[in-house]
Amino acid sequence: LAQQQSAKLVLLGEMGSGKSSLVLRFVKGQFFDYQESTIGAAFLTKPLPEYNVKFEIWDTAGQERYHSLAPMYYRGAAAAIIVYDVTSADSFVRAKNWVKELQRTGNANMIMALAGNKADLVKGDSSSRQVPTEEARAYADEHGLYFVETSAKEATNVDELFEEIAKRLPKA
Ligand code: GTP
Ligand code: MG
Repeated sequence: LAQQQSAKLVLLGEMGSGKSSLVLRFVKGQFFDYQESTIGAAFLTKPLPEYNVKFEIWDTAGQERYHSLAPMYYRGAAAAIIVYDVTSADSFVRAKNWVKELQRTGNANMIMALAGNKADLVKGDSSSRQVPTEEARAYADEHGLYFVETSAKEATNVDELFEEIAKRLPKA
């Protein structure tokens, strides 16, 4: 039987985009309307026995004053999830800047995923949407990222996101 491999995974993205909420949904099945802003970074682990992997997750702080810490968390990471908020064009700009930074300084083999979070806010009447799905998908395709829209609140595509990364990890 193959031994379970550890995989370092980092979440990056603008403050308030929902990084902690995605991690908390995935790891603990919880969601809080008043999730506290992360200070520095938070570390959580989650085994995925079906994929023979244990994720070691660094949930970074989006506040700009923590930007200089980010390399400590993405260095050596097997995968990164870059999160933006579909109701915030600014957060999408920030996400693209993270992709640039990772592609410039990160590991060339890093698996990268782009998550357009808070999809629950743009269901039906989508007047609050600021980032069109097709625009984000085109950007992701161009840069070799896996792309999905998620809702941490409604648990939409959250397991799928992490499982897709697990599938793409090189076999130990
Ligand atoms: P920092 O730690 O400051 O970088 O923020 P973060 O990216 O970790 O965001 P966080 O998970 O703290 O979420 C920010 C706010 O958005 C919180 O009030 C959450 O409840 C809310 N939120 C997160 N995900 C969703 C979602 O999918 N839908 C909705 N409607 N709200 C969400
Ligand atoms: Mg957070």
